[in-house]
Amino acid sequence: DTYEFGLVGLGVMGRNFILNVAENGFSALGYDLMPEKAEALREEGAAVGKVAASSDLNEFITALAKPRKIMLLVPAGKIVDQVIEDLLPKLDTGDLIIDGGNSHFRDTDRREAYLKSKGIYFIGAGVSGGAEGARRGPSIMPGGAQEVYPEIQPIFEAVAANYAGSPCVAYLGPGSAGNYVKMVHNGIEYGMMQLTGECYQILAQLGGFDNSEIRTVFERWNQGRLQSFLVEITSEIFGKEDPMGTGELIDKILDKARQKGTGKWTSQNGMDLGIPVPTIDISVSMRAISAFKTKREEAEKRYKKPAVSLVDKNLLEALCEPSLYFAFLMTYAQGLHQLREASNEYGYNLNLATISEIWRAGCIIRAGVLDDIASAFKEEAALEHLLLSGEFTERITACIPTVRKLVSKAIESGIPVPALSASLSYFDAFTTGRLPMNLIQAQRDYFGSHTYERTDREGSFHTEW
Ligand code: 6PG
Repeated sequence: DTYEFGLVGLGVMGRNFILNVAENGFSALGYDLMPEKAEALREEGAAVGKVAASSDLNEFITALAKPRKIMLLVPAGKIVDQVIEDLLPKLDTGDLIIDGGNSHFRDTDRREAYLKSKGIYFIGAGVSGGAEGARRGPSIMPGGAQEVYPEIQPIFEAVAANYAGSPCVAYLGPGSAGNYVKMVHNGIEYGMMQLTGECYQILAQLGGFDNSEIRTVFERWNQGRLQSFLVEITSEIFGKEDPMGTGELIDKILDKARQKGTGKWTSQNGMDLGIPVPTIDISVSMRAISAFKTKREEAEKRYKKPAVSLVDKNLLEALCEPSLYFAFLMTYAQGLHQLREASNEYGYNLNLATISEIWRAGCIIRAGVLDDIASAFKEEAALEHLLLSGEFTERITACIPTVRKLVSKAIESGIPVPALSASLSYFDAFTTGRLPMNLIQAQRDYFGSHTYERTDREGSFHTEW
């Protein structure tokens, strides 16, 4: 028997993805070292389509139709290299390996070059949407070997999420373009998550909202321009009872946020490229701050918080909605700006309209507003920055007074809102024609003869201060 599609790594993501492939009419074979995982797929797959599983690598390889299409859904890092090494001696020239994990884009570049030298094609594809997305329709961000993309395209288009008739997948660019785009997607994800967290704390502490009221607020927001996966699941989270029977689950969850590194990579590379992504940066830092739970508790006792005067609930909700909308926009704007620059720097030739389009469904950062963002980049192909889009100028302008009010109020009250305020400061800086960096330049020249440029003539200048 031969199978059209092979998948290595039958964890939850892999199993769900391959079931999705089979359900869409493609014959698929899964492989996992652990027989119980192969068995789990066999059981679930029986009713779904032509899908089989093996824990014998030779059996797996020989049962795949040539040229083989093998997708890896294994944890990013060394395991990917290990799996590639295991596969390599058994593959034939012209076979294709697709890495569907959150691999670092530099690793993807390295693997692509290595596999090319062995005659094997490589596609690095970001896959977003979690376990549910993998099963019902993820957003897929492939990049790499364009010449063989048509071989996998029908499968990807069939399994991907669908937005108004368009599949949420597109070939994005050469080399590590797909993994890079997924990395920035995750950076944006970190930003949006932190922002919803800040709104939660504001609603609870500044408005006295209880969990069920917060649930209702996010539910309402999800009906409007904030419509998004993260706002939707937030409302569901606030309605969840503790399965251990203690009351509301959210109150029992330890406030230490973990991370696997993709948000941090976005920030690190933003710094390398000289592209500011402060909302993402601070969201990574807040996860780091959250880890110091006992120190935070100790410090809380030492420093008195200002007295909070409660804000009327309706008023507060009305302050939060435009602020969250604005800050979501700034987060997308930063991520897309980084993609624009990375495209130049790494030759990805990215199309920001296409990327916004394939983010409209399936992925974690999907949101109604992405359709408008996609239109903005479609109408103005050369658009350098979302803040310079005609479409968004008025919308953003209308939010600003409210954002200022909310951020001031939160800061006055000692409620940490670093992502909201970073978004606002980013906006303020980006819309200030003359920043105090003339002083920085003067200082650099003063202590280090680093020279400065002038506003009134060309050249570089040094002054004996
Ligand atoms: C997705 C997610 C996913 C990511 C998790 C965990 O698009 O489905 O981005 O790929 O692994 O969100 O990320 P952290 O552990 O870093 O929070």
